Amino acid sequence: MYLNNAWYVGAWSSEVNRKPFQRFMLDKPLVFYRKENGEPVALDDRCCHRFAPLSAGWLDGDNIVCGYHGFTYSPSGACVSIPGVEKKPKKIGVMGYPVIEKWGWIWVWMGNAEAVDETKIPDFHYLQDPAWTGHGETLNLKSNYDLVVENLLDLTHAKYVHKTTLATNDVTEFPLTITEQEDTIIVERMMRGIKASPLFAHAGNFTEPVDHRQHIVFTPPCYISINTTVVSAANSMENKSADIRILNALTPETSTTTNYFWNLVRCFALDDEDMTKFLYEGNKFAFSEDQEIIEKQQQMWNTVPNAKPVPFPHDKGIIQKGKLMERLISSEKCNYN
Ligand code: FES
Ligand SMILES: [Fe+2]
Repeated sequence: MYLNNAWYVGAWSSEVNRKPFQRFMLDKPLVFYRKENGEPVALDDRCCHRFAPLSAGWLDGDNIVCGYHGFTYSPSGACVSIPGVEKKPKKIGVMGYPVIEKWGWIWVWMGNAEAVDETKIPDFHYLQDPAWTGHGETLNLKSNYDLVVENLLDLTHAKYVHKTTLATNDVTEFPLTITEQEDTIIVERMMRGIKASPLFAHAGNFTEPVDHRQHIVFTPPCYISINTTVVSAANSMENKSADIRILNALTPETSTTTNYFWNLVRCFALDDEDMTKFLYEGNKFAFSEDQEIIEKQQQMWNTVPNAKPVPFPHDKGIIQKGKLMERLISSEKCNYN
C-alpha cells in the first residue's frame, strides 16, 4: 500500500532528455522526456490503443508518438492525433503526472492532481546549496522500500554491517530520542567520547575520542535525511568537526523493488575532490553492504508476509514511522471514499 498524494523522486535531472525513457514508480510504468523548452514530462507509459510503451516511440516537438501505430500524445497525456482519423480525438489519452524539477531531481506527484502540494517536498536544498558539496547515485534494490527506510531509521546495524566504514561500536549503548513534528519523525542519538568510525576518522582526521551526533529525519512517504556531526570530544571548542548529510529518497519501483536515490553532502573541505571521492566511495560501499542484507531480509519476509517482528529498544523510530504512515494512508483512503 502506498501513500498516493505525495511526491516521489522519479529521476535525476541529468537522466531526462529528449530521448523518452521508461521507469516504473509505485508499480506503474511511466515515460519521462523533456519538452523543447526543457520542461520535464511524465506520462503513463502505456499507449491507450494497444498498450505499447510510449517510451519505445519518439518525440514530435513537445508531443510523443507511439512507435506501434502512431497515436500521438501531448505533454498533458491527451491523445491529439490518430493516423487515418481526420477528426481530433476527444477524451482519450494517458494519465499525465504533475512534475517539479528541484535540486537536481525530478519529483513526480503520484496522486490526485487537484491535491498537488509543493510544500510536501522535503527540504533537500543541500543537494544544490553552494555551502555544501558531494556526490551520489541510484541503487536498484530487490526489496520493498519500507525495509530500506527502516534500515536507515535504526543505525545500530552499522556496528554489524559496516565494520570498515560507518561502524561505531558503542552505538548500541546510547539510547534514542524520538520526536514527531508536523508529520515528520526525528530520531536522535548522541554518542559522547567514542572512537570515531573509520569513515569519520579519515574525513575529520580524528585520532582522539569524538562526540558523534546522529539526527535522522523521516519525511513521509520515503525520505530520510541522516544528519551526522562528529566533533573532537576534548576540543569541541576548536571547531574541528565533520558535518555530513546523507539525503535518501526511496522510491518504490514495485512492491518488492526500490529505486534508491542518494547523495552524501558535506559542508567542509568544499574544494577537496579527493574528499568527495573518499566519502562517495565509502558510502557507496556501505550501501552495497545494506543492499546485500536487505535483499536477503526481503526473501525471508516473503516466507512470512503476515508475521509480526519482535521489537527491540532501537526500533522506536521504526515503530513511530509505521504508525504515522498507517495514519496518513488510512486518512487518504477515507478522503477518496
Ligand atoms: S499501441 Fe500505440 S498506437 Fe497502437
Ligand atoms: Fe547501513
